[in-house]
Amino acid sequence: MSNTHKISHQDYVSVNPLFSRPGESSLASKFSLGEEGMLPETAYQIVHDETMLDGNARLNLATFVGTWMDPQAEKLYAESFDKNMIDKDEYPQTAAIEHYGWRIIADLWNAPNPEKALGTSTIGSSEACMLGGLALKRRWQQARRQAGKSTEKPNLIMSSSVQVCWEKFCNYWDVEPRYVPLSEEHRIFDGYNLAEYVDENTIGVVAILGVTYTGEYEPVLQIAQALDKIQQDTGLDIPIHVDAASGGMIAPFLQPDLLWDFRIPRVHSINTSAHKYGLVYPGLGWVVWRDEELLPEDLVFRVSYLGGDMPTFALNFSRPGAQVLLQFYLFLRLGREGYRAIQQASQDVALFLSKGISQNPAFQLWSDGSDIPVFAWRLREGHTKNWSLYDLSDRLRSRGWLVPAYPMPDNLNNITVQRIVVRNGMSMDLAVSLLNVINEEVAFLDQLSGPLPTRTTKPTFHH
Ligand SMILES: Cc1ncc(COP(=O)(O)O)c(C=O)c1O
Repeated sequence: MSNTHKISHQDYVSVNPLFSRPGESSLASKFSLGEEGMLPETAYQIVHDETMLDGNARLNLATFVGTWMDPQAEKLYAESFDKNMIDKDEYPQTAAIEHYGWRIIADLWNAPNPEKALGTSTIGSSEACMLGGLALKRRWQQARRQAGKSTEKPNLIMSSSVQVCWEKFCNYWDVEPRYVPLSEEHRIFDGYNLAEYVDENTIGVVAILGVTYTGEYEPVLQIAQALDKIQQDTGLDIPIHVDAASGGMIAPFLQPDLLWDFRIPRVHSINTSAHKYGLVYPGLGWVVWRDEELLPEDLVFRVSYLGGDMPTFALNFSRPGAQVLLQFYLFLRLGREGYRAIQQASQDVALFLSKGISQNPAFQLWSDGSDIPVFAWRLREGHTKNWSLYDLSDRLRSRGWLVPAYPMPDNLNNITVQRIVVRNGMSMDLAVSLLNVINEEVAFLDQLSGPLPTRTTKPTFHH
């Protein structure tokens, strides 16, 4: 230990003498591989302690991603975390269960002919969106080539409130993003003025079922009708991909009559994140095409495992298979009624919280959680100049709650909102205490006699 003081604590973790063993190093290097190893108990304790400052997942109201599964799911997980999803020849049953998984989802999304639908599991919605976008692009290219036209300038139309995965898609695959900005009159992308954005180079339109910023559904039917009108006027037949990362596992249970899915013929493909409201641990997503014809054959790699013909369409090769089993477990365990009850419980909590927040005179609701159980609010105009929602977010963090504040997307980015994502596990009891904490912290901030200094730097995490 004598040289501890000469060594930078930035570079080493010092091992607590209580659990270091005789002869073991008392320092563990962070940035280079140590010469010698250590006992598993010691290494475990170091990693365990290093993560202590992470937030408490149950109090993290920023994430959409599941943070709890029951003991039977955990048992299945522990039995299967060695399975690689791509090894379909070694794990034919896991491959078969993946097939059951997307077929069940195709059915939930009202595919007109589920035997003709095609789907796959993915690592999450981001990969699923990339695959959906690639299929749109390839089909457009094929049609253009057949017509002897240029394929140089594909574009994709979406709201400015898309999740970053669509920006990535456009960036990585050289597609021009055409963002439809939001406005106070059109606070959600609703197909208004769509004709101004569409042209012969448009590969598709993305509609979001559960906007990440506010939890609201974009009206897929209305967007489809705007595209029907464009087709009548111009002959351009533009498909829709629905990014139902969250709503894909909410709408079938809570809003079964809402038309957003394969009941709309223009909807070619849909994705969801199983690790969000699918209730599975990260990372699993699904993407389904209404008909196999919509997924160009030249994007699919065929592997002759299982003595048959196994199509694969994925960005990664190896990927955990355990989550696919967890999803099937939940489908069996919960059934429609189980999912409905769980999603309804989350929605009840979201509506309770949004109502409570709307009753505080400091706030004005943006959305109330009646689409997905996610809602956002802003400071009521004229309420205060002394503090912002960023300050409230800081105060809540000091009480253990992670409730992010952020600017809205273009053209509403002068508006700051704060958002709560209600997930399974956020009980009414927790909601009541959160509401009390919010009201207490607002009362505290309202007492300030002058403005809080604004942060000049964002809070960082320290190595
Ligand atoms: C609408 C939407 N699309 C895509 C994603 C990306 O999902 P994933 O984290 O599963 O890649 C999110 C995540 O929040 C989302 O809200």
